[in-house]
Amino acid sequence: MAGRLKFGILISGRGSNMLALIEACQDPGFPAETSVVISNCPDAPGLKKAAQAGIPAEIVDHKNFKNKAAFEQALDETLRRHKVEFICLAGFMRILSENFIRGWPERIINIHPSLLPDYKGLDTHARVLADKRDRSGCTVHYVIPEMDSGPVILQKTVPIRPEDTPEILAARILEQEHLAYPEAVRMIAKRIGN
Ligand code: GRF
Repeated sequence: MAGRLKFGILISGRGSNMLALIEACQDPGFPAETSVVISNCPDAPGLKKAAQAGIPAEIVDHKNFKNKAAFEQALDETLRRHKVEFICLAGFMRILSENFIRGWPERIINIHPSLLPDYKGLDTHARVLADKRDRSGCTVHYVIPEMDSGPVILQKTVPIRPEDTPEILAARILEQEHLAYPEAVRMIAKRIGN
């Protein structure tokens, strides 16, 4: 399909959301395509999965740079070399600076495993259970300098059951993440695509 929006995916680990996005792009009617997967962790299992799916997989290891600015400059160069127009964070465990984010205005999105604005940060599922909430879910949102705080694009909700552990709840939400992220990218690509 001509004119598909080219996006890059930044990961640090497993890459199951990354794979859901890559698989969505295999449908020729999907309005976006994955240009590159970049990991800041050389041993991220997602890197191998991306390569197996035929997607260029690159490592930009933050430990190899003298500071955050130099790391982010390398990240930026790698994204632009792959003609990326849009960035999806998928389990990317570095906080991006305001300077980096400014270079991609309204062009960076993230997926977070809670119903934002509730439960920003890590260990969301354990905190949701400790608070005895009756539902949780996931949120796709625009990235702004303040963590997990940008405008919400879409959310999916799941019930919480009495027998839930953080692991069980995480798995139930992850299933929804794999639907939510491609759905959000589809919406955005249709809106800003070429
Ligand atoms: C997901 O739960 C995502 O919401 C969060 O980090 C996790 C990444 O999982 N930001 P995966 O690497 O996509 O499997």
